[in-house]
Amino acid sequence: MVEIFPELLLRGSVNQDVLERADMIRERGMQGICLVGMGGSSIAGEVSRALLQGETEIPVISVRDYRLPQAVNREWTVLVVSYSGNTEETLSAFDDARRRGAEIFAVTTGGRLAELVHQDEIIRLSSGLQPRAALPHMFSLEYTLLRRLTGLPEVDLSDVAAHLKRAREAWRDGKPISPQSITSALIDKIPLFVGWRHLAPVAYRAKCQVNENAKAPALYSEIPEFDHNEIEASGRYSASRIVPIFLRSHLEDERVALRIRATTEVMREEGADIVEIPSLGHDSLTETLAAILFCDEVSVDLADRLGVDATIVRRIERLKRILAGEG
Ligand code: F6R
Repeated sequence: MVEIFPELLLRGSVNQDVLERADMIRERGMQGICLVGMGGSSIAGEVSRALLQGETEIPVISVRDYRLPQAVNREWTVLVVSYSGNTEETLSAFDDARRRGAEIFAVTTGGRLAELVHQDEIIRLSSGLQPRAALPHMFSLEYTLLRRLTGLPEVDLSDVAAHLKRAREAWRDGKPISPQSITSALIDKIPLFVGWRHLAPVAYRAKCQVNENAKAPALYSEIPEFDHNEIEASGRYSASRIVPIFLRSHLEDERVALRIRATTEVMREEGADIVEIPSLGHDSLTETLAAILFCDEVSVDLADRLGVDATIVRRIERLKRILAGEG
């Protein structure tokens, strides 16, 4: 499923009814956009939110809980995302959105969520994937809708998909770095992914992928916040087998680049081994998607090396069964 990441970016489209409704909502105006989803179904929203931040004046918030913030009312647009369409917290937040009279869009393969929405509210996803592996598919549709809702020009993702294919070939030759070289540094260690701005959700995604694919502990943090707390713990990283992995960006300004250099200097003085993943794209969008693909590859390679099946998530499924009263 990671192999077809670039193809998934181009799979499917947002149907015309939905786009027309988005145009209508934009013309009328809205107070904000609220993104709802859990786990693998939240990441596309987190990534889109980070990318849109510098481009739109409309506030975009995200919710990973049963309830929506009180501020969300009929003047808001709520994008409810659940790959299965049956996630408890997501369905509860959906009910909340309905009760408040918000404009709703649902992104799903089916399930209960699909039964609860109208034709011009639903974006149908292809089924048969793990939700986390469907990220490029969900992202392309959500990002298209969000750009439309916020009045931003459409983005052609075929160039990005082509870049990803080329970049992946180059990574295999170690240019600029191979996913396998990162995995080697992670055996029996705990990665702490650190990202700045649009790469902060990528760091979070990488943590989740190591958890779900390799069934291994992983942490994440964001810089500059890292420098105001996390850095104090770096003296114990080596003893705790924690390896900080900094996701670097071409877009870092001088101050941010200096900050990251200073941060790693302080941590090295504390005995921490630090890994850096250089920028893998030329703008925020390609950099983001390339870093996600790169870290996805690290997570499945780690799963292979640890001898675990990356595709199944039996603990998540067991928990859902318990909560559904099925044992
Ligand atoms: C499984 C996965 C999970 C699910 C989450 C929510 O691949 O990534 O994190 O995404 O349990 O389920 P859905 O996506 O069906 O709403």
